[in-house]
Amino acid sequence: MTSVATATAPSNIAFIKYWGARDLERAVPFHPSISMTLRRCWTMTTVAFEPVAEQRDEVVVVDEGGARRPAGAEFRARVCRQLDRLREEAGTRGRFIVATRNSFPAGTGLASSASGFAALTLAAAKAVGLELPPERLSSLARSSGSGSAARSVLGGYVEWPARPDLSARQLAAASHWDLRDVIAVVEEDPKAVPSLEGHRRAPTSPYFETRLRLLPERLRLVREAIARRSLDLLGPALEEEAIELHLVAMSSRPPAFYWKPGTVRVLEAVRTMREDGCEAWATLDAGANVHVVCAPRWEAWVQRELARLPEVRRLILDGVGEGPRYESEHLL
Ligand code: DP6
Repeated sequence: MTSVATATAPSNIAFIKYWGARDLERAVPFHPSISMTLRRCWTMTTVAFEPVAEQRDEVVVVDEGGARRPAGAEFRARVCRQLDRLREEAGTRGRFIVATRNSFPAGTGLASSASGFAALTLAAAKAVGLELPPERLSSLARSSGSGSAARSVLGGYVEWPARPDLSARQLAAASHWDLRDVIAVVEEDPKAVPSLEGHRRAPTSPYFETRLRLLPERLRLVREAIARRSLDLLGPALEEEAIELHLVAMSSRPPAFYWKPGTVRVLEAVRTMREDGCEAWATLDAGANVHVVCAPRWEAWVQRELARLPEVRRLILDGVGEGPRYESEHLL
């Protein structure tokens, strides 16, 4: 008998970035990372499981307009490897059929693999009949190789420790602190250097060791900022961290250069907004698009100022979210 499950998992924006891995295959980082789970950028994934001898999985991508196409070879292979892990966890044989849809462009630094592998793991676990605690689901999501997926399994503010035996844990629920994230999309094409390759190159940067020395204090600051709901503490740490991630990426050998002219333009606009009294701070993951984090009362100001910039193709008004959920409607 076929069983079907659908999960929607949100993306997340890292306040402290995972960049560089001790073990890339298993996504074992050098240091902890901290993120805010989003609510409007999500992946919805339906998984059907048939306990048959035939093991060939099928993976379909549904685009924003609803059109369906078979997944590209590389993405399909990553999905199938993750499905193998789920089969192994459940101790079963059978065939999966997967359909997946993003609410935002994939591969542009908006962490589509985080939401994608979190949604896939949750839906496949349910379809195959596994009832697992969030810690186990987080660690299964991480084993996809997308480390940030470990954080997308939880809502609110999330820390993923660096120890391989530990999964992500929630630092605070979404209701603890209503933060907004105005995402300035300046580039919609996939990034030139995938995160996995960026992680591989990170330790070749002469600044990587310095970063490892600076991080414990910044991690402490960010945890305290979240506990105290203090944007004054969080903001500067957030920008420093984003610039440092890109400093390491740009100075890796060979370099991974993610910025576009629009990136610089938005970073500049955020500084100007602050000079004019708006409390907004920028961060970006491995991509050109910029996340502008602020309290709800500044959201409209940020939106208005960023909408003026010709380099900004569109804005996504996002914010802290409660995490993944199962759906009763399916994509298959
Ligand atoms: C810069 O290996 O988790 O976003 O899933 O593609 O985002 P994606 O890759 P992953 O690396 C994430 C790198 C980062 C920082 C972060 O999210 O911590």
